[in-house]
Amino acid sequence: MKTICFPAFIFIVFTSIAYSHWVPRDTNTNACDKLNDYVIYSDERFLNYSDVKACYESTPYNKTNATQIIETVKEKLKAFYVLLEQSKEDPDPGFTFRSMDIISELDLLLNNNYLYEYQFIYDVSDLIEELRDGHTLLSSTDYHKYAFYQGLSLYSVIKEDGTQQIKVFNDIKDPNNIDCQVINIDDKPAIDVITEFASNHIASSRDLSVRFNSALASLRFGNGDFEIFGQFFTSRIQLPKNSSISYTLNCNDKISKINREWQIPIKPLPQYKSPYIHGTTVGKAKLIFDAFIARFYILKDFGVVLISTEFVTNNVLEYRYITDIIFGFKLLADKGIKKIVLDLTNNNGGNVNVAHIINKILFPYIKSFPVDMKVNNISVQFIKGTSMIKNAVGSGFHYRTYISTKTNSLFINVTDFIGNNLYTRGGTQVKCTSKAFFNDTALYGGNLKIPTSPKFPWNEKDIIILTNGLCFSSCAILTQRLAEINVSTISVGGFPNRRFSFASTSGGSIVTTDDIPIFFKLLKNLDKSLASKLTLPKNLTLSFTLIEAYSVNRPNEVIDFSFRPADHQLYYNERSARDPSQLWMQAVEFIR
Ligand SMILES: *[C@@H]1O[C@H](CO)[C@@H](O)[C@H](O)[C@H]1NC(C)=O
Ligand SMILES: *[C@@H]1O[C@H](CO)[C@@H](O)[C@H](O)[C@H]1NC(C)=O
Ligand SMILES: *[C@@H]1O[C@H](CO)[C@@H](O)[C@H](O)[C@H]1NC(C)=O
Ligand SMILES: *[C@@H]1O[C@H](CO)[C@@H](O)[C@H](O)[C@H]1NC(C)=O
Ligand SMILES: *[C@@H]1O[C@H](CO)[C@@H](O)[C@H](O)[C@H]1NC(C)=O
Ligand SMILES: *[C@@H]1O[C@H](CO)[C@@H](O)[C@H](O)[C@H]1NC(C)=O
Ligand SMILES: *[C@@H]1O[C@H](CO)[C@@H](O)[C@H](O)[C@H]1NC(C)=O
Ligand SMILES: *[C@@H]1O[C@H](CO)[C@@H](O)[C@H](O)[C@H]1NC(C)=O
Ligand SMILES: *[C@@H]1O[C@H](CO)[C@@H](O)[C@H](O)[C@H]1NC(C)=O
Repeated sequence: MKTICFPAFIFIVFTSIAYSHWVPRDTNTNACDKLNDYVIYSDERFLNYSDVKACYESTPYNKTNATQIIETVKEKLKAFYVLLEQSKEDPDPGFTFRSMDIISELDLLLNNNYLYEYQFIYDVSDLIEELRDGHTLLSSTDYHKYAFYQGLSLYSVIKEDGTQQIKVFNDIKDPNNIDCQVINIDDKPAIDVITEFASNHIASSRDLSVRFNSALASLRFGNGDFEIFGQFFTSRIQLPKNSSISYTLNCNDKISKINREWQIPIKPLPQYKSPYIHGTTVGKAKLIFDAFIARFYILKDFGVVLISTEFVTNNVLEYRYITDIIFGFKLLADKGIKKIVLDLTNNNGGNVNVAHIINKILFPYIKSFPVDMKVNNISVQFIKGTSMIKNAVGSGFHYRTYISTKTNSLFINVTDFIGNNLYTRGGTQVKCTSKAFFNDTALYGGNLKIPTSPKFPWNEKDIIILTNGLCFSSCAILTQRLAEINVSTISVGGFPNRRFSFASTSGGSIVTTDDIPIFFKLLKNLDKSLASKLTLPKNLTLSFTLIEAYSVNRPNEVIDFSFRPADHQLYYNERSARDPSQLWMQAVEFIR
């Protein structure tokens, strides 16, 4: 039931190896072996763009292989991708994406003449990314292997006169550039370049403002500390088309132009340290409880709760995690805290049941969002096959993982779960399972005990959610559900005076093609001819939304496609981008 950990940008970090001195192999070794040698033996901190390019260009395009990949991706999407038909419908006003029939567009790619395999793979993954469904992605272990980095990160501020500027957030090569304004990028206005990039090269959200935020750098709490997150414009996982980018900077009215080559870090880079965050304090906020995955602060008379949800991987950890969260909220309640800012900025998601449980801790009466998945001649084999396996309860395909929304109890049998529900979407008829709630205690094979929680004193007017729109997957489920009971929301950043989403890519649950072979081993009655149709080469992984979630307030609305702007918008400035406590103080004013 794990929802995807978003492909957060992670530098390739190697554990220290005792470096023997690097000795070149004979010059005949292929370009990719040469890179591997560098990574292991060289003292260099970076690989060069041209060397990675040479490696990627060592594999020519083969149309036979390409056709096979396209056919498999299509089969998968048709069988399981629950948002497939609805993605042909026009976007809700407020969203920015191209409605499309991905199945026929995938076929069109085969008309292109590619020189190298990586160009084809990038086109397939770019096309899938145009769905702007952050859960639905194709990644290649060969061609998304290296991270390309500029040494700097950018951010956006709104000046007092209301104008928007792009600035340098951090620069590990030349700290003098920090907070210089970026006027042009490759001789074009910086805002236009970032907006174009966000428009066309970022998958994570149907809302352009959220994609704009993820092109840029911002701070997040995760891995037990604050770190830089996003920055997809200056750190990428696809080989960039050009080997460098130029930036025209204005530093205290001195104009200069710098050129940055793309480089691939192979040694750990210095971590960003905010000048306003020291150990247990953020600005004037004091830490009262650090649960590693969550932090609880007090600032003046209000509480601030930061939660990262993505590190829970089993029932024991989840029990501990939930226990810690209850403990933190109890500390706030015991200290008489009346107002809480729930900061879920840059939260990548994790297990959906964590979101459900946190919501129930705060508001015990609320139900989670109903979900369903596609029913067709392929998916039904997975549902029926899995449902016959007793210890597969907890799998998304098992009917006992769910509770019927009609009866509020288990489905009678798998037929009852499959039901007979037809919807018209994107001009076609789609069959889906009966609407259901996840039974949160059925996950992990029914081995999750949920710790009991005291009754807390806060109602929906006492809590405000703060994000920058990069609150994905289970974070989206958590926040969107609370918003439906009138908890207020704020999103930070984006474009001036353009309200935007506080969460993205809610989905209900995803699977990846790496999971599919497991079913062919497990399910005895599965049509064996499907195995070849549904199996991608080992070095490619397609992940996709298997289960969709519906609104509670508007029962026919699939949350992924509904534009839900935050109630309020705030902006970063030079200080608040580095000192989140500035935003917390502004946030709490909305619920005074
Ligand atoms: C990158 O290029 C520089 C300059 O051309 C060279 O000195 C260095 O060895 C190269 N590094 C790698 C990893 O190829
Ligand atoms: C393309 O790959 C197929 C195997 O999938 C192989 O039979 C064929 O020879 C390859 N074509 C070229 C031009 O390498
Ligand atoms: C095509 O696929 C075959 C089988 O996976 C592989 O051996 C071959 O190298 C591939 N060729 C190209 C050009 O990708
Ligand atoms: C996948 O691996 C095969 C065999 O090693 C290789 O021929 C092919 O180029 C790779 N393809 C992709 C898309 O990574
Ligand atoms: C790549 O660089 C060339 C020459 O500097 C420039 O004309 C072109 O616009 C650049 N392309 C991209 C995608 O930035
Ligand atoms: C599933 O149904 C479609 C048309 O409804 C058909 O073309 C396809 O062959 C069927 N697949 C299987 C595995 O039965
Ligand atoms: C499922 O339950 C319904 C209602 O009790 C019953 O009519 C049906 O035969 C059952 N189906 C199976 C496959 O057991
Ligand atoms: C939820 O799942 C647990 C564990 O499988 C089970 O004991 C419980 O009865 C289920 N809840 C409902 C309402 O069916
Ligand atoms: C939320 O606010 C709306 C409009 O004021 C109201 O109709 C609705 O009942 C409220 N919902 C809850 C759960 O309080």
